[in-house]
Amino acid sequence: MRHIAVAGTGYVGLVTGTCFANLGNKITCIDISEEKIEMLKRGEVPIYEPGLSELIQRNVQAGRLHFTTSYEEALRDAEFVFICVGTPSGVDGEADLRYVRMAAESIARTMDHPLIIVNKSTVPVGTGDWVADIITRTQPKPIDFAVVSCPEFLKEGSAITDFMNSDRVVLGSMNPEAADKVAQLHLPLRAPIIVTDLRTAEMIKYASNAFLATRISFINEIATICEKLGADVREVAAGMGYDKRIGPHFLNAGLGYGGSCFPKDVKALEHMALVQGSHPSLLRAVMDINRDARRWAVITLRKLLGGRLNGKRIGLLGLAFKPNTDDLRESPAMEIGHLLRIEGAIVSGYDPVSMHGAAKLDPELSLAASPYELAQDLDALLICTEWDEFKHLDMTRIHAGMAQPILVDGRNVYDPIQMGRIGFIYRGVGRGQTSSFVEEDAINMITPLRNLVDANGAVST
Ligand code: UGA
Repeated sequence: MRHIAVAGTGYVGLVTGTCFANLGNKITCIDISEEKIEMLKRGEVPIYEPGLSELIQRNVQAGRLHFTTSYEEALRDAEFVFICVGTPSGVDGEADLRYVRMAAESIARTMDHPLIIVNKSTVPVGTGDWVADIITRTQPKPIDFAVVSCPEFLKEGSAITDFMNSDRVVLGSMNPEAADKVAQLHLPLRAPIIVTDLRTAEMIKYASNAFLATRISFINEIATICEKLGADVREVAAGMGYDKRIGPHFLNAGLGYGGSCFPKDVKALEHMALVQGSHPSLLRAVMDINRDARRWAVITLRKLLGGRLNGKRIGLLGLAFKPNTDDLRESPAMEIGHLLRIEGAIVSGYDPVSMHGAAKLDPELSLAASPYELAQDLDALLICTEWDEFKHLDMTRIHAGMAQPILVDGRNVYDPIQMGRIGFIYRGVGRGQTSSFVEEDAINMITPLRNLVDANGAVST
């Protein structure tokens, strides 16, 4: 059993701490927010992450997981301290490192024995060296320490599974012994472990997120072209995905990427490049296309509703930035709601878990208790988040409740033909000819390929 302190009880810190506790380590999570720590001590979990609450409870009961606001208490017998604090976007898109600085200073002031400081927060390349510098300058007396970068690759909504089944563990340090000790902690995961220098590890994280964001913007660009040329982007993505060099993941066209990571990290990488005198034109295109993906929804609704949105009732089905999370940060739905209202639309919304947060974030957005209540008297319904429960709705009932049968499917959840049969005027993202119900011949031709693709867009052979 290793003793690990985890600074920051946001989504990364809580998941990391809880999963390491579950692997048999003793974990103390620290947060500067008394309110959060009190909640956690009462057994309440401040974020929605499937399975996390139960796992926290199990490990607290087993005596492996503790919460405190005191660095003294957390570091007392710790061998490692993981920094998992937030790095929000600064004014120019740069990562704001104030919480990393605060954590590093608190660690430096408190430590009274050698420590391995592991940075999991997403930080600009070079931050590991900066943290080491802060610690050296803040320590009241010199005590040995090493900094290791260990970027996280967890996805909200499947973070625990992602942690336990990591594709890889990346470790960066100038101190091979420290990197080796952190590697030992990860051995039970049986994942490939890549050991490199600090800056390279930090860059692997940014390059990975930027690449995934690029795939999304790429397929969204292809979707726009598909729409014009009458091809179906879902079939195109599935057809591409068979190529092992391409693979099927992160090729779902839609309203673009949101959340607390991709938007912030692509911007931060662009900023890092600019500062160094580079011209990151691909990253800029990725961000532009992502902006356009949200505007596509507004333009499509405007067109279908006769050129004006003023006074039109529009419902947003799904508010979270993606399914299985209550996170509304950079959520396409929230931004689209705002854009629609600017044009005079009357906007309402429904989400299975993020209603409370949505009410706080946008008090003007009216909220419905269910998808069926949302549909009542709508002029158009826009699917913003592909929650599983939306795939099983009684769409005939939804149709019956609406004033006009306009369905804009921003996540390509529904089958255009079925929706046409129910009586909807259906538009998906880049669905080309399949979007118009009348093109039966073209549809028959592509059916064999469609049969190989399940509802999530996964390809079976
Ligand atoms: C992302 C990365 O996937 C994680 O590996 C990384 O650790 C994390 O950021 C982070 O840096 O902390 P996350 O933001 O939780 O994870 O969500 P994703 O599942 O990656 O989705 C991001 C956005 O892309 C969502 O808005 C989603 O709807 C969108 N997306 C995803 C698409 O529009 N199309 C796709 O094919 C896939």
